[in-house]
Amino acid sequence: MREFYFKENELWCENVVLKLIAERFGTPLYVYSKRSILDHCQHIEEALRGVDHLSCYAVKANANRSILRLIAGKELGADVGSIGELVLAIESGFTPEKITFSGVGKRDDEIEYALEKNILAFNVESEEELITLNGLAGQLKRPARIFLRVNFDVSSGTHPYITTSGKHSKFGVDQSEVKRILFRAQKLPSIEIIGIHSHLGSQITDQETFIHAAHLMVQLVDDLRRNGIPIKEVNFGGGFGVQYHDYISDPHLPQDGSIAEKTLTTVALLESVIPILRQINCKIIIQPGRSIVAHAGVLLTKVLYRKQNPEYTFIIVDAGMNDLIRPSLYQSYHQIVPLAIRDVDCEVVDVVGPLCEAGDFFALDRTMPRVNRGEYLSIMCTGAYGYVLSSNYNCRPRPAEVMVDGTNCEIISERELVDQL
Ligand code: LLP
Repeated sequence: MREFYFKENELWCENVVLKLIAERFGTPLYVYSKRSILDHCQHIEEALRGVDHLSCYAVKANANRSILRLIAGKELGADVGSIGELVLAIESGFTPEKITFSGVGKRDDEIEYALEKNILAFNVESEEELITLNGLAGQLKRPARIFLRVNFDVSSGTHPYITTSGKHSKFGVDQSEVKRILFRAQKLPSIEIIGIHSHLGSQITDQETFIHAAHLMVQLVDDLRRNGIPIKEVNFGGGFGVQYHDYISDPHLPQDGSIAEKTLTTVALLESVIPILRQINCKIIIQPGRSIVAHAGVLLTKVLYRKQNPEYTFIIVDAGMNDLIRPSLYQSYHQIVPLAIRDVDCEVVDVVGPLCEAGDFFALDRTMPRVNRGEYLSIMCTGAYGYVLSSNYNCRPRPAEVMVDGTNCEIISERELVDQL
């Protein structure tokens, strides 16, 4: 069941009316459903049942400690991209043996810390990083386990800013270089090769893209093994797209008509690649972020003003691009719905924030039920890459975060105050 739903014209999260949460904690406010997070973990684990695997949650998607604790409690591992994420992951209960470390620019101190903690593996992104890692591991007398990240040059059809494959991408090493680099790695005394890693990008909704990458991975592993490089595990990364359009429906709400996303599930994407990857008899690692937390969160905001010019209607809300930057940065779509539905007509509006930037918007030319000053809106599916990308731009304190669990709700991070700025 969906944890966000309309009942008697009000939007609920689990067993709580969201309007009451907005009134109690104020807006802008991120609200998460505990059940949704747990269910998403479980669906992924069920899709991988019977497969030797480890799912490492990509901490960058949502690094709230309470959320990390929940996911760690489901026995998942973690993928981190900085020392900060690594410290938070460990403190939240992820065991280092289940933590991978990704990123093109790992600093020496970050590598040393990760070596001291004896993490599962480094996803190595360049030859120079490999040599540096070997040197630091040698000094610390702690061998480093590695996956070499391969850039498969597969076009993923997602936004260019969240595409991580292709010739002009800083991520991974070119496929033509893999064998040479791994031959070199085999000779490095403090490096232990575990396998290869691929992460194509994020919010990839096309099954064929993943299938193509899985075939390339299988071919590469076969080739490497034939050349005497033992590959024990493959890390297939994350990037599994989620439904954003028409996420929630009600007879009063316009439907966006984006059919394609309706059948999209992480489970289906995973199920299409697992049989391919299993051909090589490797343990399979995945690093999903968005697909675990995106649907679990909403951003609540209050309408400050309506403003009309001869051609456009602006709904000015109290959340801004500093609270949720995805629409401004990637022109991402997030469904926006009123917390209380009234019997009113729909209108075409721009939903914009209060910041001094023309790019400060959540939706342009969007058909929505008419809302007035003082009403609340919910920006849907903002559990991933929402709060983590927030900033203090325009000296705006970050919003609070609340977790709903059945009929309970508790603050899981306090609203910042102006005097903390
Ligand atoms: N593994 C690696 C190495 C990554 O770089 C990422 C995300 C993931 C896993 C998790 O990918 P996911 O399953 O969440 O798609 N801020 C952007 C998304 C950036 C993704 C960065 N890397 C957005 O809001 O869409």
